Amino acid sequence: MPLPPPGPDSLVLVTGASSGIGAETARALAARGYPTLLVARREDALTDLAAELGRRTGLTSEVHAADLADDEARAGVRDLLHRDDRIVGLVNAAGFGVTGRVVDSDPEALDGLIRVNVLALHDLSVAAVDAFVRRSRSTGRPGAILNVSSITAFQPLPGVASYAASKAFVQSFSEAVHTELAGTGVTLTTLSPGLTRTGFADAAETDAFDRAPGFTVGEAADVAEAGVAAMAAGHRSVVPGLVNQLSAFSGRLTPRSVLLPVVHQAMDWFGGRG
Ligand SMILES: NC(=O)c1ccc[n+]([C@@H]2O[C@H](COP(=O)([O-])OP(=O)(O)OC[C@H]3O[C@@H](n4cnc5c(N)ncnc54)[C@H](OP(=O)(O)O)[C@@H]3O)[C@@H](O)[C@H]2O)c1
Repeated sequence: MPLPPPGPDSLVLVTGASSGIGAETARALAARGYPTLLVARREDALTDLAAELGRRTGLTSEVHAADLADDEARAGVRDLLHRDDRIVGLVNAAGFGVTGRVVDSDPEALDGLIRVNVLALHDLSVAAVDAFVRRSRSTGRPGAILNVSSITAFQPLPGVASYAASKAFVQSFSEAVHTELAGTGVTLTTLSPGLTRTGFADAAETDAFDRAPGFTVGEAADVAEAGVAAMAAGHRSVVPGLVNQLSAFSGRLTPRSVLLPVVHQAMDWFGGRG
């Protein structure tokens, strides 16, 4: 079993827990009896969520405010994974998008995107793999990681080029490590949502979610539930929802020469080119 049974010493560290999919994932874990260690920049939002989880489940949640784009702050979170033997799970949900053509984008914003979506996720995954595998070998206690990717991982996307490429990294890295971990007692699951109602659109300064047909936009609680179920079962990957599964399938299989002009037009209409 990839996630040990719930209990006071089965702590799951959740990044991006101040909002959206990360916050809903903490709620889904708490509903299963897992105490959580909540990480993001906005300490007030984390403290509010910790209080809510305490009221609803009686579990004690811990709060660690950190800017994952910052090297020192990221090292602090990495140390928690190495030092705290109660941590049996890691959810990498922190992430954001930058909308618009690369030529029109602020280079610092793109740098921040890569730091959070790629560097932090990679750093924390590597630390958790090391800590969990070592402990699994010495005590037999399993561990599980959930990395939040996106259906944008499955094809290049003009208009959100850096974001889609960051998620292609997450998808490729995470699926490869899942395979490497076979037989270790540790699993890594990738969650690839489509459009989901969260704080993401505001952070990415896009109105694409308002323009999208309603049936294509999912709820964060449903996405989180699918992610936690797949994590608990140790599955390689999950794409929640039929529309998103079709998008992932066609993104993977359509030749780039056909796909790129179409998605370029679609992103233009969608507002992705800013
Ligand atoms: N919503 C969608 O349509 C969608 C679709 C596919 C994938 N995703 C992915 O889902 C994940 C969660 O996003 P969401 O949709 O839930 O958006 P959200 O509501 O905006 O949540 C993003 C989370 O990331 C945290 N974060 C951002 N920058 C950070 C930094 N520098 N340091 C630490 N934490 C940081 C934010 O916390 P603070 O601001 O408090 O730091 C927040 O908790 C992301 O990886 C996103 O790429 C979203």
